[in-house]
Amino acid sequence: MSDESTPLAIDIGSSAVKLVKLEKKDERLVLSRLGAAPLAPGAVRGGFVHDPEEVEQALGELLPAGEGERKVVVALSGRTAMVRTVLLPAEEDFPVVDALEAEAMQVLPYPLDEVRLSHLRVGQIERGVERLDEYLMIAVRREPLDALLAFLKRVRYEPVIVDVNFLAMESAFELSGMRAEGEITALVDIGASETLVNVVCNEHTLITRAVPFGGEGLTRLLSDRLAVSREEAEAVKRGEATAARPDVLEEVLGAETDKLAFELDGTFRLMWPITPAPKVERVVLSGGGALLEGLPERLAASLEAPVEILKPLRHVEAPEEEFDSGLVESLAPAAAIGAGLAYRAVEAA
Ligand SMILES: Nc1ncnc2c1ncn2[C@@H]1O[C@H](COP(=O)(O)OP(=O)(O)OP(=O)(O)O)[C@@H](O)[C@H]1O
Ligand SMILES: [Mg+2]
Repeated sequence: MSDESTPLAIDIGSSAVKLVKLEKKDERLVLSRLGAAPLAPGAVRGGFVHDPEEVEQALGELLPAGEGERKVVVALSGRTAMVRTVLLPAEEDFPVVDALEAEAMQVLPYPLDEVRLSHLRVGQIERGVERLDEYLMIAVRREPLDALLAFLKRVRYEPVIVDVNFLAMESAFELSGMRAEGEITALVDIGASETLVNVVCNEHTLITRAVPFGGEGLTRLLSDRLAVSREEAEAVKRGEATAARPDVLEEVLGAETDKLAFELDGTFRLMWPITPAPKVERVVLSGGGALLEGLPERLAASLEAPVEILKPLRHVEAPEEEFDSGLVESLAPAAAIGAGLAYRAVEAA
């Protein structure tokens, strides 16, 4: 592989490592790598790699030895970062940094000296006679960031971009071409340990939040309620095995979906300081948890909005001789964050 090649996108989730690589050939986007390798429970938790050997082994499975690709794009998990849109007066000498720090102090659940704060000016709006600059404020906790960088160094990867999962979700949405102009869309990534919510409109982030809901919790609950092992419960959940008590399965899935719908609804309401609140017009799901049978339909009924599954690689060419199209399709929603990172990498190249 030459140095010219775009970096590999690596998404280190709590249940699996996902790897995606895109390349630009003329103006076409071509898939050059796609894979996922499972991780033992507990190896990655709360955005920290607790068992570096386990993650290194998963990376080794995805990238057989001897391949010289060392440049990577990675992201920090939801809980370790926050993205927020802040409106400030569009005045020449306005103390933007001070104002953003003051805002961060109010909204962050940890002290300011524990975070790295950065901002991007994304636009300008008019409100009455006032002109306001719109900033994207990105706060990243230093400790998990440093830990991630140390892990990458240990496995001899060179991070070219360290992104934030929430922004990678937006990149994946952009890549999918599923965005509709002016529509308020909730991007919802249901992982094993957490659900990331990012409500967007055009290129703007309206709110981000990590909701305490994940596929692993559901598996554990099923294992408990069906009195089967975690592995059996996982197979039942994925529809690969039948439950001895279909009524219990149905009851647990119904109750857990209601719980997720309640959290999402609360998040959507939370974001509007203005009333009446504009409505979330569409919900787009990603993450492995989105593949739960019947989930889109159940959520659509509770949230009274259409719910779809993100197809991040819809417009990406996947050479038939290298990739099985069924596999690409089934892996793509869970690899959405990786796809978003890979897209950012190829666009930045
Ligand atoms: N077909 C399926 N039906 C239901 N759940 C599924 C299916 N396939 C995968 N999952 C669930 O998806 C979860 C893994 O998704 P994903 O890979 O997005 O999580 P992660 O990135 O490792 O976790 P996190 O982002 O929370 O750290 C697991 O809990 C798994 O049980
Ligand atoms: Mg994830």
